[in-house]
Amino acid sequence: MKVLLLSVVLGLLYAGHGEAQLLLKPFSGEWKTHYIAASNKDKITEGGPFHAYVRHIEFHANNTVDLDFYVKSDGECVKKQVTGVRQRIFVYHVEYAGENEVTILHLSPDAIIGSIHNVDEEGKETDLVAILGKRDRISYLVHRRFKRETRKRGIPEENTVNFSDNDDCPEE
Ligand SMILES: *[C@@H]1O[C@H](CO)[C@@H](O)[C@H](O)[C@H]1NC(C)=O
Ligand SMILES: *[C@@H]1O[C@H](CO)[C@@H](O)[C@H](O)[C@H]1NC(C)=O
Repeated sequence: MKVLLLSVVLGLLYAGHGEAQLLLKPFSGEWKTHYIAASNKDKITEGGPFHAYVRHIEFHANNTVDLDFYVKSDGECVKKQVTGVRQRIFVYHVEYAGENEVTILHLSPDAIIGSIHNVDEEGKETDLVAILGKRDRISYLVHRRFKRETRKRGIPEENTVNFSDNDDCPEE
């Protein structure tokens, strides 16, 4: 198991750009937001750009990734799509509500944890950590990792929004 994992990691490090991205392809599909934490809470509360109900992620062989989600504005679900462009292994640049550097911290068949460094149109900086899941519940261990990553960035516990609690946007 360890050897297999090591060869995947080495594969990611030494593969050509497109090949490394291909290894992420199996993680494409339906995903749901569980929690997002942010150093500025207004970014993740209703009406904020990161009050985001994720639906679908698609990793493409050309080093881009598409993310479909809804945000809520005046109680309405508004459909959004953004494209990330791979900068390094597990790091993407995304233009949305300013500029974002998105880093994948954890990737498994049923959970993704990502951190986002957002610089908005006014130059205000926000650190976010998001956890997406495949199922209704996420495992204790993955949730613990999420909490550790938020603490590491100095994000207070009350700056976390539970999105599985109130997701009433359309399925797709
Ligand atoms: C990357 O591939 C996707 C899927 O084939 C395509 O929709 C997109 O336009 C491509 N992007 C670039 C920058 O080539
Ligand atoms: C988040 O909401 C879900 C769905 O209502 C619930 O099961 C879960 O316990 C909530 N998480 C926390 C930390 O309160």
